[in-house]
Amino acid sequence: MTHSRPCRHALPALLLSALLTIPLAGCGGGGGTPEAATTTQDATADAAAIRPPRTPQPAPVPVPTLAEVGSRLFDDSRLSASGTLACASCHAEARGHADAAGTFLPLGGADGSHQGLRSSPSVRYLDQAGAFRFDAQGRPRGGLFWDGRASTRAEQARGPLFNADEMANADVAALATRLRALPYAADLRAAASLPAAATDEQLVDAATTALARFQADDARFHPFTSKFDAVQDGRATFTAQEQRGLAAFNDPQRGNCASCHDSRPTAGVGRALFTNFSYHALGVPRNRSQATANPAFFDLGLCGPQRSDLAGRTDFCGHFRTPTLRNVALTAPYFHNASFATLEDVVAFYATRDIDPARWYPVVNGQVQLYNDLPATLRTNVQQGAPFRRAGQAPAITPQDAADIVAFLRTLTDGFTASPPAQ
Ligand code: HEC
Ligand code: HEC
Repeated sequence: MTHSRPCRHALPALLLSALLTIPLAGCGGGGGTPEAATTTQDATADAAAIRPPRTPQPAPVPVPTLAEVGSRLFDDSRLSASGTLACASCHAEARGHADAAGTFLPLGGADGSHQGLRSSPSVRYLDQAGAFRFDAQGRPRGGLFWDGRASTRAEQARGPLFNADEMANADVAALATRLRALPYAADLRAAASLPAAATDEQLVDAATTALARFQADDARFHPFTSKFDAVQDGRATFTAQEQRGLAAFNDPQRGNCASCHDSRPTAGVGRALFTNFSYHALGVPRNRSQATANPAFFDLGLCGPQRSDLAGRTDFCGHFRTPTLRNVALTAPYFHNASFATLEDVVAFYATRDIDPARWYPVVNGQVQLYNDLPATLRTNVQQGAPFRRAGQAPAITPQDAADIVAFLRTLTDGFTASPPAQ
């Protein structure tokens, strides 16, 4: 068994040999073959026999991986200016790695009283998002955040760390000071192969890379352990209602949900992600928040204000990235502006947005304020077509379909255990 150990397990031996100043080939050179591992261990044993240390050396501590350090950083509120906010505060594992509060837009900032602009999304199942791009038809795809403005997780992590409404570090130097003060600062440097005299920028880089590696490597960010997965694997069966819900979800004439929240296995993953990472303006109602207290303020997603490179593409104003629906039963409130509290309401909104608009938008002097979270000139950007139906038409989604779809969405929660695991 020892012979097939991967390189990482040979590290303590390597460290010990480094202490003894016996030069040895590194992991890379031997290609991690059983022979290389054996040679390393034998050589270490020989070295210890030839030149025993004068005082007993403490057992060498293995160098933690970047992902291991990232796991500690993710939970560490000492990275924030207030000292109270960690990544995990807004991306709680128990809630599908979305907002722990589950009620409204997250609070942050140096004094914990600033309200963010957008709902905290689940940070699971983002591995296939890819960098923000335009596809062959010129449609925007991928990227991280509701508006896709970050192309990698490491780049993304700088967002909350320096956002004045979130973890509120004033600058790179301020965050580097916080990183140096961590009890595991040496582990961060070791994992990133940085010297003790690492610069501020190097330390911040190491921290964001570690956070990214943790989310990429740790199975908890892509477990695929929902009932839906178990059914796909033949380990469980849907109830009749869940089965009807999936059919309505997929049916282009009814929910048409799968046209954006793709329910087919994604190539290279073998599992459905329930998003195709496309962008759309759904015209969700305006929510009350610190930002929207100013009636002239509009969060326009792709065309700003959080990103500015597409400000000229007014055809994209109001477009936000399609989120995964995995764990959606845990991640209320819904939509980029947290304007919906329940899945029942979300599905009813898709069914009757334009048929019964007074249910969703305020009525002022007898006038329904349709699509009221967009300036009047941009309301033509709002998505039409299935499942949306025009005023006077019958809904594409019946109340029975809606109840069935909600039952189906509840099968997308990770950690399904009702039947024994495979094998
Ligand atoms: C105060 C709450 C808060 C904190 C703290 C926070 N986030 Fe977020 N996170 C959000 C919000 C809100 C968004 C969406 C923002 C947007 O789209 O503009 C988000 C988005 C993300 C995304 C992109 C998700 C997607 O669907 O594209 C990732 C990844 C992420 N956060 C990781 C982190 C990491 C890592 C940390 C710690 C360094 C962190 N967050 C700290 C609230 C928070
Ligand atoms: C045209 C593409 C499209 C179709 C069709 C579609 N969605 Fe969505 N869905 C989106 C986009 C885009 C968002 C985010 C919009 C926003 O926040 O402004 C979203 C958001 C959601 C959310 C909120 C998730 C969260 O984390 O906040 C749920 C739930 C949802 N959709 C369910 C459905 C269901 C159920 C159907 C079918 C009845 C459906 N969607 C049809 C594109 C679509």
